[in-house]
Amino acid sequence: MSDTTATLSTFAKDIHSGLASNPKYLSSKYFYDEKGDQLFQSIMNLEEYYLTRCEFEIFDQQKAEILKSFLANDTSFKLVELGAGDGTKTKILLKHFTNEGVDFSYSPIDISQHVLDILSDDLKKSIPKLQVNAIQGDYFDALAKLNENHFQKEVVLFLGSNIGNFSNGSAPKFLKRLGDNLSSGDLLFIGFDLMKDPNVILSAYNDKLGVTKEFNINLLRRINNELGANFNLESFEHFPTYDPITGETKSHLISNRAQEVFIEATGETYSFDAWEAIHTEVSQKYSLKSIRQFAEQAGFKVVRNFTDKNNYYVDSLWQKI
Ligand SMILES: C[S@@+](CC[C@H](N)C(=O)[O-])C[C@H]1O[C@@H](n2cnc3c(N)ncnc32)[C@H](O)[C@@H]1O
Repeated sequence: MSDTTATLSTFAKDIHSGLASNPKYLSSKYFYDEKGDQLFQSIMNLEEYYLTRCEFEIFDQQKAEILKSFLANDTSFKLVELGAGDGTKTKILLKHFTNEGVDFSYSPIDISQHVLDILSDDLKKSIPKLQVNAIQGDYFDALAKLNENHFQKEVVLFLGSNIGNFSNGSAPKFLKRLGDNLSSGDLLFIGFDLMKDPNVILSAYNDKLGVTKEFNINLLRRINNELGANFNLESFEHFPTYDPITGETKSHLISNRAQEVFIEATGETYSFDAWEAIHTEVSQKYSLKSIRQFAEQAGFKVVRNFTDKNNYYVDSLWQKI
């Protein structure tokens, strides 16, 4: 692949790196093509997927307290959301803040233009007064673009336990880098899925209807469609695991036979042994103690924790020191 590397898309390069590694992996950020966006919307409505309902409950029940904490002693702020998705939960806050006459603007950032278009159209209709400045791109490229004019208090939302998609090794680096992009006094409102009954956790990634399986396998379909690969989707199984000691949930695609897959865009053939796994996603679960440590290591202090009634989930409000 070496002589063509320079002309390959980042997508093709990342897929090659993952499939040429041992063990094999694929980055979860590539789940979200148009079909992946739709499948994730379905996952959020699944009976087993408690995460969305918990965060929804926190926003719905505690929106007044959340607004008070966001404002503190200020009268305005710039609200930025990393990986906004379709913003279903965020809309609860956006509506409340608008109804309360708060002086704020909203900048959703997402790698998926498709999902940003849906969100922007929806907000135009549902909250016409809201000032929206959507930015397509990777978290930090978009944040850097946004912060060219940083003169107002910024409140950054990072919801849906998106932070859980970073390994325990890379999350502190990500949070430190995020902190480096903020000014003293700025706020980060960040969702963490908490450790709980392991059976509840595992079911959330292995639903009865098989939507999470379809979401995982769609990554291979996307590689077929966009990079000219010939993955046989029937020959991969969805297999999630949860380790109650480390709090790590992992999703895998397991090759159920020995096989070879060719990808036109990389010009390479990749061999799979029978029952060889591709690691596709990590969804870390946390304790309140580990969350406080993360905040301190990244240069923040915890202002307040907002939890749901079952203590399944926390939206933790941090202030940059
Ligand atoms: C799991 S969804 C969560 C959406 C929303 N935050 C929520 O809580 O419902 C993750 C979203 O983050 C976006 N995303 C993933 N990796 C990203 C990256 N590196 N940069 C920007 N957006 C990213 C995806 O496109 C997707 O819309």
